[in-house]
Amino acid sequence: MRISDRPIAAKLAELGAELTPGVSMTEKTSLGIGGTTDLLVLRKFATIPEIMRLLSADGIPHYFLGGGSNVLVGDGELSWVALHLPTSKPGMSIDGTTATVDAAADLGGMVTFCAKNNLGGMEGLIGVPGSVGGALRMNAGAYGTQIGPFVREVELYRAATGSIETLRGNDIRFDYRHTSFAPDDLMLRVKLELPSVPFKEILAGIKVCNEKRRSSQPLNQKSAGCIFKNPPGRSAGRMIDELNLKGHHVGDATVSDRHANFFVNAGSASCADMLALIDDVRERVHAAHGIELETEVIIWKN
Ligand code: EPU
Repeated sequence: MRISDRPIAAKLAELGAELTPGVSMTEKTSLGIGGTTDLLVLRKFATIPEIMRLLSADGIPHYFLGGGSNVLVGDGELSWVALHLPTSKPGMSIDGTTATVDAAADLGGMVTFCAKNNLGGMEGLIGVPGSVGGALRMNAGAYGTQIGPFVREVELYRAATGSIETLRGNDIRFDYRHTSFAPDDLMLRVKLELPSVPFKEILAGIKVCNEKRRSSQPLNQKSAGCIFKNPPGRSAGRMIDELNLKGHHVGDATVSDRHANFFVNAGSASCADMLALIDDVRERVHAAHGIELETEVIIWKN
């Protein structure tokens, strides 16, 4: 969707939003899949409510794009604009055992920053790609650690009220890869309460997690991490593997040889290829196990 040639473009610029026309989502997503649209970077938190009002008045659909590491975006000219927070020099500060971090910060960067300040607990999250905002929205987790329990406060833009609000951690539900945030909530900043741990100890934990991840996941290939959620008590990766589907592909969308719940873009896969592979694998798992796998990756169709 193009808004760069509409009257709204000038108003958005006045509100400190930066518009880049015709951005390919292949460049903005870890899967390297997706069509083209205008990208709007929201440089000032305070003007976000007004910007959202303008977009809504002009009937402009949008998605909030974080690190782009857990989304599968549709092909071709997209029917929505991508909204993004500026990622250069995100705010990160420590006060005692509380870390305050901008949602646009890189998740791994945040874990390391806290570690250097002797605040730990999040070692398991070290190799999870994406932004802090994305991790909050999904309650990202790995190796027994999830971000949710550390959250003391979240500052966010709530579409339901059209305003910037602060929620207390206790008022947010964090479940397995799911939270009580609305899909159109935009995470802005988080306060985390973390245990004091000496840097060296945190570093040792980080090394263990990095090693585990390197040995079991295709880190050098384009993916969105695990494609499906694990059904209760089961491993989607193991079920897909046991059906001998590693290497199975639709076009360049391929079940990873290394971890069967990672679907990689082995070249120039389209969203249609990836969706066809997802459906195919889901049907095969259903036929074999009677279980309907639910996608973990977020799908933004055209
Ligand atoms: N397994 C296989 N074959 C495979 C993959 C896995 O047999 O191809 C087996 C493993 O040997 C192991 C079991 O399945 O016995 C579970 O595998 P793994 O330890 O890799 O964990 P997972 O359940 O597949 C989850 C998260 C990952 C997270 C890891 C580590 C989900 C959907 N996945 O994977 O998160 O990194 O645990 O904690 O919850 C993600 O969210 O995108 C993601 C990759």
